[in-house]
Amino acid sequence: MNGRLLERIEEIFAIGGGTGADRVGYGDGEQRAHDLVAGWLEEAGFAVEIDPDGNLLGEVAGDDPDAGQIWTGSHLDSVPNGGRFDGVLGVLAGLEAIERIGRARRTLAVVAFRDEERGFGGSLARVRRGPLPETYLEAHIEQGPVLLRMGAPLGVVTGIAGLARGVVVLNGAAGHAGTTPMESRNDALCAAAEFVLRARDAATSIADAVATVGRLDVEPGAENVIPARATASIDARAPDRERLDSLVAAIGFEPTLRTEPALMDEAVRMVLHEELERRGLPSPELVSGAGHDAGVLAGAGVRCGMLFVRSGAGGISHAPEEWSEPEDVGLCADVLASALERLAKQV
Ligand code: HGY
Ligand code: MN
Ligand code: MN
Repeated sequence: MNGRLLERIEEIFAIGGGTGADRVGYGDGEQRAHDLVAGWLEEAGFAVEIDPDGNLLGEVAGDDPDAGQIWTGSHLDSVPNGGRFDGVLGVLAGLEAIERIGRARRTLAVVAFRDEERGFGGSLARVRRGPLPETYLEAHIEQGPVLLRMGAPLGVVTGIAGLARGVVVLNGAAGHAGTTPMESRNDALCAAAEFVLRARDAATSIADAVATVGRLDVEPGAENVIPARATASIDARAPDRERLDSLVAAIGFEPTLRTEPALMDEAVRMVLHEELERRGLPSPELVSGAGHDAGVLAGAGVRCGMLFVRSGAGGISHAPEEWSEPEDVGLCADVLASALERLAKQV
């Protein structure tokens, strides 16, 4: 099972041409990944559904159609020049796990949500449109160094940080770079630089908060013209509502997207801990600084859990160097299958 899982992860990674994942939401790369996984689901005998927002679901009907459904999965889109495992691991390990379990009391499904990276598009759409499962359990690479430092292959997520994203436009006045005296300039990029540093200082002043300006567009963008306008993205995150509110206020922007901090379900966490401990594995808990589809579903009242897999390469993610050891990937699929099977049998 593990060999096929690793091969499939590589096959999806290769869609980006082999140097880095390149599957922007609703673009050609993501579509090719969805087509590949849909084929693997059909081969495995799953009932395949593509919902009106393009989310892909593979279902194995349960004996009791009235019992709440158990879903697993993640996303197949990626950031530009991304890594192998972000999202893909959760979808493919979920497929392997459900194929191993087969028919259970409750209906089991694996889902690939569209366009997660740009703002959880697929899971927000699904939450609006429904129907939703009773329980959602997502496996995901940690994307950080915590499990690596602990020497733990897997970890149980307690909660997902809240996130506020927006775009800030700084206006200035174009002018000749050579003839305009410094004291009479209105340089939009200097204003943007002050904004970037304000975001950094605000996040640094609030415990466990982070803020990032990942994209900055400068107009007109000529070497010899004083910038007239700078457009900056802002991604701000914190572990609870109060700190997220304070962070947004301190940076000073209007979020166009906000996902609230989400707690993972206690009962689902316990199942994961038991499955780790039963195998004699470390059973650490950790908060996710990254956002996930599970956070969106939890916000809609779905009982959620997340199983993290140790990141190698110092915990780097959203980069081609993202890594997880094959043994850890195999353990993830194994624990995920056991946990899903227990959840699927629950009366
Ligand atoms: O940005 C995030 O936290 C996630 O990888 N989409
Ligand atoms: Mn992800
Ligand atoms: Mn990501």
